[in-house]
Amino acid sequence: MKEQIEALNQKYKNATAEELLEFFLSEYNGKIALSSSLGTEDQVLTHLVTKIDTSTKIFTLDTGRLFPETYELIHRTNSKYGIKLTIYFPDSIQVEQMVGSKGINLFFESVENRKLCCKIRKLGPLKRAFEGLEVWICGLRRDQSVTRQNMQRIEWDEANGLIKLNPLIDWSESDVLEFIKSNGIPYNPLHDKGFPSIGCQPCTRAILPDEDIRAGRWWWENPDTKECGLHKR
Ligand code: ADX
Ligand code: SF4
Repeated sequence: MKEQIEALNQKYKNATAEELLEFFLSEYNGKIALSSSLGTEDQVLTHLVTKIDTSTKIFTLDTGRLFPETYELIHRTNSKYGIKLTIYFPDSIQVEQMVGSKGINLFFESVENRKLCCKIRKLGPLKRAFEGLEVWICGLRRDQSVTRQNMQRIEWDEANGLIKLNPLIDWSESDVLEFIKSNGIPYNPLHDKGFPSIGCQPCTRAILPDEDIRAGRWWWENPDTKECGLHKR
């Protein structure tokens, strides 16, 4: 598989994000999905994917702790593109047990607690979202974080047994924002209030102009632990 992926990376080295999506959406029709956190990159991808095929599965993991603005954006995105994002919820028993034993805001107490919360609220539902899929489209970019610098456009995701497609891997933050503005793509109003990267409400804060774009995510942790486990390598 690794060799096939390498060959695809070579073949599509100079392709645009649209061209890459066109190829994969037709080749893996019905077995490909975009995971969207409703962030700016995912909104660009939703725009590009629906331009090619509005029946493509686009899913969101609703952790139960998202910002009200994110829920509102789900509604606006569905209306704008005439689609229905598939929403996955965590297992209610697991959430009840976790919160019952460790508290409602357990994530502030240790990295271990934070990872447990991400595991139950995101990774469990993600496993269900992957059923029947062969390709997973994500909005990762290399310059988002130290943990993402070696990522490729097309990767083999060993942990999930899927091809992982990162069509915006080489885009800069300003490429994404300019594309959003020039195409009238709906976006989260929090981005205009100092929130470049948005996840769950308790684990996301606004940043100062000179701070790193992911400084507002799990800000109390070290930069090298700041992944929720969705993007293991
Ligand atoms: S995270 O690991 O820090 O939470 P980030 O917010 O940068 O991830 O998003 C990276 C990619 O992970 C997104 O482009 C999207 O594909 C996926 N993703 C993150 N959070 C979610 C979510 N709640 N629902 C669906 N996909 C998500
Ligand atoms: Fe829990 Fe925070 Fe992870 Fe959301 S980001 S699942 S609230 S630890």
